[in-house]
Amino acid sequence: MAHDWAGKTLGIDFGTSNSAAGVAVAGKPYLIPIEQGAPTLPTSVFFGVGASQMSMGSAANRALIAGEEGRYMRALKSVLGTSLMGEMRMFLGEKMNFYDIIGAFLSQVKSRAEAQCHQTFDYALSGRPVRFHSADADRNARAEADLVECYMRAGFKDLRFLVEPEAAALASGVPRGPGLSLIVDIGGGTSDFCVFRMSDGIEVLANSGIRMGGTNFDKRLSLDHVMPLLGKGALIRNEMGKGAMATPNSLFQKLATWEQIPFLYAGDVKRDVAKMMRLAVEPKPMERLFEVLDMELGHEVAFAVEAGKIRSNEEDAQINLSIVEKGLGAPLTQTGMQTSLAKEVADIKQGALDTLTMAGCMPEDIVRVVFVGGSSLLRPVQNALAEACPKAELDYRDAFTAVVDGLALGSADPMRFGRQPAA
Ligand SMILES: Nc1ncnc2c1ncn2[C@@H]1O[C@H](COP(=O)(O)OP(=O)(O)OP(=O)(O)O)[C@@H](O)[C@H]1O
Ligand SMILES: [Mg+2]
Repeated sequence: MAHDWAGKTLGIDFGTSNSAAGVAVAGKPYLIPIEQGAPTLPTSVFFGVGASQMSMGSAANRALIAGEEGRYMRALKSVLGTSLMGEMRMFLGEKMNFYDIIGAFLSQVKSRAEAQCHQTFDYALSGRPVRFHSADADRNARAEADLVECYMRAGFKDLRFLVEPEAAALASGVPRGPGLSLIVDIGGGTSDFCVFRMSDGIEVLANSGIRMGGTNFDKRLSLDHVMPLLGKGALIRNEMGKGAMATPNSLFQKLATWEQIPFLYAGDVKRDVAKMMRLAVEPKPMERLFEVLDMELGHEVAFAVEAGKIRSNEEDAQINLSIVEKGLGAPLTQTGMQTSLAKEVADIKQGALDTLTMAGCMPEDIVRVVFVGGSSLLRPVQNALAEACPKAELDYRDAFTAVVDGLALGSADPMRFGRQPAA
């Protein structure tokens, strides 16, 4: 190991939904409590009006839920590699873009870890999905370069990357043996796979992934079950002449997409919706939409969808929309959830099968499937993967900490486990 990285490298899992940091202590992962008493923190930020500092994690979520005035953002990782990265906005009286915002988030992770450990961390071993963007190699490379830039702004001198499913494999505790194991890491933004065998060290046969995770599930469920209550598909009378047209789909796509919600609160969107409300054949749904934009309730709606998704994994549930209108809810049965997510789940299954092909093995060769990532708790996902690997034993590891555990272990020797950023 290069000498000056020794003992100064922080393992960081910068996740779409949750982030965490850790180091190796006596050969075991030690997760640093970045938030009081918790090994992970929500990847969210809040810029309060009149505040001097950005708040992050649970504090940011609390500020949103308390209805404090300000700008909330979540799913920041999904913006990497997109043209939104460089868009400047005013926050805390300063012009900032997403490099600044993600940099500030990572900088706070760094300084809190340093305060907890009474030392400095100049270097990072960062997780990254195998593919930030499924089909577009250039975008994928741009996303990695964007993330490097964010780490530099956070004050790290240098970093190495370890792909997230391989990190989970490192920490999986799979015993030595000739059999092949498959890591299935379904997070908030991506699904990542790693086929490996444990011998003297970990022998990786293939890593692969697709841009599909829990935030995509939220989006699909929102579009199918909630957005119709807010005017998706509603008819708007033509201002001049006869006839009517459906509301523009792009508006609902954005409102159902975590990272795009803040961009809807601009005056011109509200003006357009106010006009549609006046001309709507049935005004009620458009009134609700106007309320959501005017009161900036888009994230609250997204949280309600996410909570409904998690509940409907166990029983027929409701998406509670009383924040929009007293008593308003959207039923979400277990079957309804499965039907809505059929394509997403099929894509994940195909992603796993493609990884087996890359590894040069057959589904029957997999002796163990290790599930990690919050969205691997979803039963339709588990069932699809069990079908894909019919001979495998199913192993459920710490859904929210397996990746950071591996990064913490790898941080003891980032030159061996990590790889240099591409550019
Ligand atoms: N019990 C549950 N059932 C289904 N989904 C869940 C459950 N608990 C959490 N989730 C979902 O898991 C996702 C977060 O998982 P996780 O923290 O592993 O993602 P992440 O590491 O932040 O994302 P990524 O690795 O894709 O960048 C969210 O979409 C959340 O809604
Ligand atoms: Mg993850």
